[in-house]
Amino acid sequence: MSETPVYSRITGTGSHLPEKIITNADLEKILDTDDQWIRERTGIQQRHIAAEGETTSDLAYEAAVKAMQAAGVSADELDMIVVGTTTPDLVFPSTACLLQARLGANGCTAMDVNAACSGFIYGLSVADNFIRTGSKKKVLVVGAETLTRMVDWNDRTTAVLFGDGAGAVVLEASEAPGVLSTHLHAAGEYADLLTATAGVSKGFTAEERGGLKIEMKGNEVFKVAVRTLGRIVDETLEANGMEKSDIDFLVPHQANLRIISATAKKLGMDMDQVVVTVHKHGNTSSASVPMALDEAVRSGQIKPGMTVLLEAFGGGFTWGSALIKM
Ligand code: ACO
Repeated sequence: MSETPVYSRITGTGSHLPEKIITNADLEKILDTDDQWIRERTGIQQRHIAAEGETTSDLAYEAAVKAMQAAGVSADELDMIVVGTTTPDLVFPSTACLLQARLGANGCTAMDVNAACSGFIYGLSVADNFIRTGSKKKVLVVGAETLTRMVDWNDRTTAVLFGDGAGAVVLEASEAPGVLSTHLHAAGEYADLLTATAGVSKGFTAEERGGLKIEMKGNEVFKVAVRTLGRIVDETLEANGMEKSDIDFLVPHQANLRIISATAKKLGMDMDQVVVTVHKHGNTSSASVPMALDEAVRSGQIKPGMTVLLEAFGGGFTWGSALIKM
């Protein structure tokens, strides 16, 4: 007799944004930029910024509590915590360990995954695989960032893009399909097109904040993002023997409205089947997909039984997708 396959299923979502908002008009006062340029090129109107002393694990905690409440799962039931982040509180302990202690989930596996903006999808894939092999049953997956901590506020080409926030899901073992497949890729040869410029091993300069800032060749990133996201959509559909029309909803990484529209067009989807939060959140890296998912679940846009495609693209380059039955 063959064993019943084990799937992982999303049983709860949550998100959290820091209180402070910086609008495009606020940025006009400190940079040679304007609201119209930012809206037309990116779709962004505002972004949330973590308060002084407010860390990635603080945002992660708030999002995690909401996801666990929605799932009806308590901290002592968790088998694993995976945090996708590129802006950890500290080099170590990992943000996942700090979150674990705060939740009171001590003893379970806890780790961070750094895949830049694809961090949540990478984390979801790690969790899904642990559940499918039967070694974990309840996993908290978080995407959390305080990216504005490394924004160079004098650089208009990047300062207008990024924001802070956190999103989370609880994944549980299930006999019914939930996560149908995940697909992860990376191309390290593009490292120079999108990079955080300093690190412990690479070394710091004497500049302010240790010389750490985000540098991006935006135009080239844009082209690779559109190309690779188009390819991963085909790969995901093919792996599941599905047609574009089988997807009910798209939850894309929120970097740029033009990239989102291009992916939706490729899928033949109307924009009312696409979750868009980039106008109010900016690019929150790993946090963007789980925050957008949570918003769409709580607003009732995404309903149980729907087939949903999550996708992301980020520094590395990394990119990934997850096809999910909600
Ligand atoms: N305000 C006004 N003008 C600006 C600004 C600004 N904030 N920023 C740039 N410009 C100017 C440039 O200097 C340039 O001027 P020039 O023609 O005189 O040289 C002009 O606008 C056009 O610049 P481009 O870079 O060609 O503009 P583009 O249309 O490509 O838009 C953008 C830039 C928004 C960054 C876009 O390329 C993009 O979204 N790229 C992808 C970003 C992304 O997906 N990142 C991945 C995830 S991030 C992560 O992993 C951390």
